[in-house]
Amino acid sequence: MTKTNCSLMSILILSLTVSFTATAAEPVTPKLTDKLDRLLREEMRSIQSAMGQIHSAIVMGHHDDVADNAQRIHDSFILQQSLTEQDRKDLMSAVPKGFIKLDKEFHQLAASLAEAGKGKDTKEQHKLFSKMTGNCIQCHSEYVSDRFPGVQSLKE
Ligand code: HEC
Repeated sequence: MTKTNCSLMSILILSLTVSFTATAAEPVTPKLTDKLDRLLREEMRSIQSAMGQIHSAIVMGHHDDVADNAQRIHDSFILQQSLTEQDRKDLMSAVPKGFIKLDKEFHQLAASLAEAGKGKDTKEQHKLFSKMTGNCIQCHSEYVSDRFPGVQSLKE
């Protein structure tokens, strides 16, 4: 291989690597402070448990339980918790805008699900539950790939 070909090749490889890594954003977890890491894990575990209860409540038609648990998820919003000013700054510098957007969207869906619970609307509950699951997958595949390497993106 000539010298020119060789450097063209390395440029090609370099750009391929760059575009490949661009699809899965850098994991946010290594950038979290210990406190934020702990808070986020706690929030995630309580979301996980609420989602399980909502699932059972939807299939049994226990609309009040759907509403209560969805409301609980909505209220757990990490950005609205009593974070100190410093924690908030740490969080903002640790995570990209896309992460915040997904988190907001997720909590918005939880609010809508609480409404669908109050409205005793099973079909809507099912739709929203599934959208929320999509959000878990999207956030984990994009931003938590270090901890959850098995989660594949839902994007085409
Ligand atoms: C906006 C991003 C985002 C969304 C949306 C999201 N997660 Fe997470 N999740 C994370 C991050 C970041 C971690 C890793 C936290 C850490 O290690 O500090 C995590 C970790 C977890 C964990 C592991 C907790 C532990 O004890 O280590 C569970 C369980 C979990 N998420 C469940 C869910 C479920 C269920 C949903 C959807 C209903 C969801 N997550 C939606 C960002 C998200």
